[in-house]
Amino acid sequence: MCGIIGYTGYSQARDILIKGLKALEYRGYDSAGIAVYNPNYKEVLVTKCSGRVENLDTKTKEVRGVAGIGHTRWATHGEVSDANSHPHKFGDVTLVHNGIIENYAAIANQIGVAGKLKSQTDSEVVAALIDKYYNGSNPKEAIIEAVKDITGTYALGIMFDDKPNTIYAVRNVSPIVCCSNEDGTYIASDIQAIGEYSKKYFVLPEFSVAEINAERINVVDFHGNKIEPKILTLDWDIKNNGKCQYPFYMEKEIMEQPLVIGKTIESRIKDNLPTFVYDAVNDNIFTDCDNITVIACGTAMHAGLIGKHLIEKFCQVPVTVNMASEYMYAQPIINKKTLVICVSQSGETIDTLEALKYAKSKGAMTLSIVNVRGSAIAGESDNVIYTNAGPEIAVASTKAYTTQVAVFYLITAAMAYLRNAMNKAQAAKFIEQLRKIPDAVDDVLKRRKDIHRLSKGLLTAEHTFMIGRGIDYPTLLEASLKLKEISYIHSEAFASGELKHGTIALITDSTPVIALLTQEHLVRKQMSNIREVQSRGARTITFVRKSLINEDIKCDFALPDISDDFMPIPSVTAMQLLAYYVSSDKGLDVDKPRNLAKVVTVE
Ligand code: M6R
Repeated sequence: MCGIIGYTGYSQARDILIKGLKALEYRGYDSAGIAVYNPNYKEVLVTKCSGRVENLDTKTKEVRGVAGIGHTRWATHGEVSDANSHPHKFGDVTLVHNGIIENYAAIANQIGVAGKLKSQTDSEVVAALIDKYYNGSNPKEAIIEAVKDITGTYALGIMFDDKPNTIYAVRNVSPIVCCSNEDGTYIASDIQAIGEYSKKYFVLPEFSVAEINAERINVVDFHGNKIEPKILTLDWDIKNNGKCQYPFYMEKEIMEQPLVIGKTIESRIKDNLPTFVYDAVNDNIFTDCDNITVIACGTAMHAGLIGKHLIEKFCQVPVTVNMASEYMYAQPIINKKTLVICVSQSGETIDTLEALKYAKSKGAMTLSIVNVRGSAIAGESDNVIYTNAGPEIAVASTKAYTTQVAVFYLITAAMAYLRNAMNKAQAAKFIEQLRKIPDAVDDVLKRRKDIHRLSKGLLTAEHTFMIGRGIDYPTLLEASLKLKEISYIHSEAFASGELKHGTIALITDSTPVIALLTQEHLVRKQMSNIREVQSRGARTITFVRKSLINEDIKCDFALPDISDDFMPIPSVTAMQLLAYYVSSDKGLDVDKPRNLAKVVTVE
């Protein structure tokens, strides 16, 4: 969703802003714009348009100036149009915004600008409000006055016509990161856009304002008290940022999985036992809880479903998995013995963040599994385990998902061991199995041509069903989401036994049905479910764990042979590839599927 970039320094701001906007494209957007202080006109000049950053790049070739702000917009208030694109200028104030201003209409009425604004956005009202408080002397004071009136979530980048080379950044929930080097200072919605300028950066603390010029960054809270943000170190290689030899980021990210899963696991094993000491996770949360609530959205929620299976099986602790958007409206049962585990790649998903805050307010212990360091969800949680997936650019989540699942294996082993549900030898054996996953994934990747060939059978499909039992079912929920979001084929995943209770009516001649079979104790039942759909004409594509293949079952793709509970990651890798090949062979924009945003910062 919306992305912010800002720069002040000694180089041409336009080039840096456009480059930053291109790096923010993956978040999802429909229009873009920049504002740069022009010393000849002695004011901040805005150029913006709907459509791709490419258009903006062409339009701004002549823009000169060494300080500016830029924005990619994902429409929420007002249609996609040039006027609604950011930056917005009102009086002396030029501003870009990520988030939602809930009381914008009331503010507009209060300050007498209703009906007089150039756009339909909530954001322009904030520019007008700050301008109202600005008396030409202290921008920071004007901003602090303005935020007292605003209800909602926001990250803002602001410039004032009479403060030529100074930019201001404001944060309430929506993130802003900042870094600097000898060439100047940079702000952005995420480190992806500015990480190449410095490995050291900080996340602007919540409820604070930064005043930034080429030499100096001064951060104060909303009461004007100085604060020192915590400096973080970028832990991924920014040189590896492009698509490398791959046509799409999604393929690159699928291929990276053995490496990043290995990193996520290995950094948390000591003497063959799981450890979260480097994450500074308090072991008590694993022993003091008597129930667990996983909260997440989309793919991250599917990781939670695998976690539920593992934790309930090995730790005997009840786990519920909740869609973050529904959580607090569903009268959840939370008490001091509840461990809430939030899962999020971006760490910005507002539904998950709000649910986390709600659970905390009710006294739950909290742990988050997050990929992006310093993100809002990480900041809000008492304990954080970072996945080591590195930047995930494709909207369809792949390596973030498999590293989240890898963390659930580690949590399961740690919790079971700490609660005496596993002895040392059993925990070590579990870890030994876990360590086999990267090679199993690699085995699937090496045979991706076979999956590509199978994917041809889905190219013309309008609907497909996926069936599996036990832990294969959540894997298929994820597989089905992958196929839907990037290939636009309608797909539904079913626990195989449930199909006959209604949905089997939709199986007709040649309906593609993808069947997954990796669980030894479920072979007989899954085989009869496969036959049920075949005898109604379904065209099945079967993915079967090697050692379970027998003469009664036609196997289209043999999955590597690791033990039952560890199959979800290699299985989902095959499914990710299946979805990927369908989408790329259909000529679709695999990395940026229609209507979707990578980072979902609206409820
Ligand atoms: O950043 P998060 O993990 O919190 O995002 C949650 C979902 O929006 C995300 O997983 C979404 O479902 C992906 N597009 C799926 O590929």
